[in-house]
Amino acid sequence: MLPAMSYGSDQILSGAGASDYERYIRTEELLSLQKRPDEWEHRDELLFTVVHQSSELWLKLATNEILQTTQYLADDQIRPALRLLTRVAMCLEYTTTQLDMLEQMSPWDYQQVRRALGHGSGFDSPGFNAIRKSMPLLVEAFKVQVTRANIALLELFLKHDQYEDLYQLAERLIDVDERLILWRARHFKVVERSIGVNVVGTQGTPVEVLGRLREQTFVPELWNIRTDLTNYAIAEEEARGKDL
Ligand code: HEM
Repeated sequence: MLPAMSYGSDQILSGAGASDYERYIRTEELLSLQKRPDEWEHRDELLFTVVHQSSELWLKLATNEILQTTQYLADDQIRPALRLLTRVAMCLEYTTTQLDMLEQMSPWDYQQVRRALGHGSGFDSPGFNAIRKSMPLLVEAFKVQVTRANIALLELFLKHDQYEDLYQLAERLIDVDERLILWRARHFKVVERSIGVNVVGTQGTPVEVLGRLREQTFVPELWNIRTDLTNYAIAEEEARGKDL
């Protein structure tokens, strides 16, 4: 049986903080994770830190949902997987929109912030690295589902209404992949606007490398299938023309 819901304004949770809100959310620890004003090289360090820390949190949630989705698929449960993939896409969307805030820093002010970063680089982002590691597992689980349905990818897209769940899964998967590509495109522009392109990052990586990473995809088959469908439609049209 579930414990009875309890109401009141007194504290019933253990932990640091004056209220149960602070104790549960752990605001004391959370809000001490940013440098204090007397430690800043520049006041925009707070803006820079908040954007990065909140990105790491959204990416943590995204990875959690990717791993659970992979498990659902291993258990042949496509419907709950669909719901979680929508969450993953939303996490990536939030990570992308909050990049806007970084453009509120002037490029010169960012040069002062940059001094504080040491060799800190986005290549070492635990959030993104976890996504990079978990996505191939998810894609593999999707491919197992397609194999089990005993259907070619082209057929799945041609007869999508006969294979609704599997088709929806393919579409939610490309949603996530597209969101990652959009993040990279947006991040590249933010980098260009902040430090330019013919320069190197804090670990010596030329910024142009980021430009080349923009089109990286975890699901090339799902992108290529669009071209296959166009070619299939053309071939069908030509065959129809011959029949007339
Ligand atoms: C003013 C803001 C930013 C600048 C100037 C910037 C700059 C850079 C640069 C120069 C690189 C290339 C690697 C290096 O040498 O460091 C890079 C990579 C990267 N950054 Fe940023 N970045 C910014 C904001 C962010 C934010 C908010 C995130 C969110 C977590 C992030 C995540 C990454 C990731 C994941 C990579 C690896 C790229 C990839 O795998 O496609 N960056 N960034």
